[in-house]
This record gives sequence, structure tokens and C-alpha cells, in this order.
Amino acid sequence: MFNLEIFDIKLETEFIGRNFIYCDEIESTNKELLSGKQQYKKNGTVILAEKQLAGRGRKDRTWLSAKGLNLTFSILLTKESITEVNTNHLNFAASLAVSMAIENLYQLRTELKWPNDVLIDKKKVAGILIETSIKGTKVERVVIGIGINLNQIAFQGEFNLTPTSLKLELGTDVDRENMLAEILNLFEELLVELGNKPGNILNDWRSKCKMIGDKITISEDDKVKSGIFYDIDENGFLLLKKNNTIEKIHFGDVGSV
Ligand code: BTN
Repeated sequence: MFNLEIFDIKLETEFIGRNFIYCDEIESTNKELLSGKQQYKKNGTVILAEKQLAGRGRKDRTWLSAKGLNLTFSILLTKESITEVNTNHLNFAASLAVSMAIENLYQLRTELKWPNDVLIDKKKVAGILIETSIKGTKVERVVIGIGINLNQIAFQGEFNLTPTSLKLELGTDVDRENMLAEILNLFEELLVELGNKPGNILNDWRSKCKMIGDKITISEDDKVKSGIFYDIDENGFLLLKKNNTIEKIHFGDVGSV
């Protein structure tokens, strides 16, 4: 059972997680926050679920996570709060927050994979799914959904990347309350930085992405492209170099060659 008191003591934010909703079971924390219900209007609202019945992953995949062992949560940002922020950059701030939290608390080296996976030793420990609700042509709210494997040690199903968890890497149980508070504390700091100096966030992300400069493949539906991972651009799109041309990639799964 998640201990709200311990979490609250560790939380040092001004607004992220100050409206905190704890659920036992829910379809998806992202879906719930996107619904725009009255209790979820406050900027920085966080919903944590012990179990998602239909957890969503990138590219219409599902996110499976054993009940009560991991962290599956979503953060709401309202449109007023992100006027200065490029929403693509939120992927980088969120994955950096997760990676820094793991490194700060457990001294495990993490790596980031475009656009927003967190890896340990090439295995996936966390995934992020950012979804928006649109009114007319304008973004109404942004929901940042984060799934991290903490204490699960067996994974069923098929994965493009081998999953891992902090417990598998460390050999000991991990405190969920501490980890969630650390991520939210860091995410709020990185959000401020995104508003002031987004270039710093992109540079920090680049320094943790070990695939830049490598030969890669990009798969999107059944199309596969290959080339050199040249860089990310100022919007966070991947730049793929082939011969002397550079192609901008908006979506896709990156693979190593
Ligand atoms: C991915 O790597 O495919 C992204 C996974 C994102 C999973 C999280 S768990 C909390 C939030 N609610 C969801 O339904 N999905 C995200």
C-alpha cells in the first residue's frame, strides 16, 4: 500500500502533486486526467494508480504493470501553465526527471532513448506517454503519463526492448514513495528550466542519449529507415543522416544496427 504520509514528507514542490489522487484500480491514469473532470482541473494534479486495467503505451501499445509493485501515474499541466513551453520538450524533461531520480537515489547509471524511454544497461525501466486534449485548434491540457518498473521481477508478454526493474538491477526492494516524490521534485525544477532555457534541457538529454552518432534504424508502421542518428533539433525531432541528406523524424521506434 502506498504510504501517503511518507510521500508528502518527501514532496518539496510548489504545485506538482499538491493535488494528489490515489486510486486502487483505474483504466488508465492518462485517460482519467484527460477527461477534464472537475476534481482534475488544478495545474500539477497527479493521479497514481496501484493498477491500471488498460494502461496505455506509445503507438497504441498497452502498458502492463503488476499491481502495487511499481509506479504508474500521470501529471496534469493546464494550458495557462505551458504557454512558454514547447510541448515536445516535455518528453525530455520527464525522461530526465526519471533518470536523475534513479541516479540520485540508487546510483544506477541510466541512458535515454529517443523520444522518451529510460534504460538501464540497454533494458527499459520506464516509459512516458504524453497526451493532450485539444479544444478547437488549441491545446487545453497536457497529461504526462509515466510508468516505472520498481519492484516487479517477472515480465510477461512481448517487448521491443527487454524490460527491467530497479529491484532486478539492485537486488533489493525500492521505496515507491521516495521515488515518486523525487521525480516530481525534479520534474518541477526542470519545467522552470524549460520555460527559461529550454536549450539546457535538450543538452542534458543529449548527454544521456548514447545513441547519438550511431547507425540506427527507425521503424514506423511497417516502414524501416536507416542512417546515422545525427542529433535532435530544437523541437526535439530526431535528425537522421543518410549520405549527405538529413531527414527529420517525428515518430518511430529507434533500433540499433
Ligand atoms: C511507453 O513506453 O510506451 C509509454 C508507457 C507509459 C505508461 C504510463 S503508466 C501511467 C500512464 N497511464 C497510462 O495509461 N500510460 C502511462
